[in-house]
Amino acid sequence: MQSYHEFLDEVLIPEIELQDRITELGEQISQDYAGQTVHLICILKGGVMFLTDLMRCISIPHTIDFMAISSYGLGVRSSSGQVRLTMDLHEDIHGQNVILVEDIIDSGNTLSSVLNLLGARKPASLKVCTLLDKVERREVDIKADYVGFEIPNKYVFGYGLDLDQYYRELPFIGVVNAEKYTPSE
Ligand code: PRP
Repeated sequence: MQSYHEFLDEVLIPEIELQDRITELGEQISQDYAGQTVHLICILKGGVMFLTDLMRCISIPHTIDFMAISSYGLGVRSSSGQVRLTMDLHEDIHGQNVILVEDIIDSGNTLSSVLNLLGARKPASLKVCTLLDKVERREVDIKADYVGFEIPNKYVFGYGLDLDQYYRELPFIGVVNAEKYTPSE
């Protein structure tokens, strides 16, 4: 198992910048929904760290739930861009103010499918909060309501984002030097 130091090209977003921006996002959400409650939905697994830090910065009453979707092999989506639900929510979202919490929007296919699915369940409102937005890679016309950072088209990991399922625990967003990275067996 390689130490990340062996293939880290650069720290794209240091821990302090992540936490400062998450604090701002939490405050913004708290203001926007003042006097109401919100229901945060996290898509496993990448969004987990962001969700737990974001929650601590939201001062209005809120609840959480989780869902999982299939990734079609090594991150490759089906040609239609559809994703398959592998773990559904535990609670009904009908009439709730839902905020979908994501670690990253890349092509936008995941978000597009999930929004269709959740929208059909008639929440009172449905918004998206993503930590990272790789705008250059977008394949579908979709935008998040709350964006932590717009990032360039680089191979990133850490803070929930994995490399072959590892390194999610790192407190910063790093860029991989693909020539130096060897996937674990
Ligand atoms: C990542 C991320 C988003 C999706 C974004 O999940 O968490 O859900 O990819 O890509 P898209 O905009 O091109 O659809 P991933 O499939 O890597 O699973 P993980 O969250 O379990 O790491």
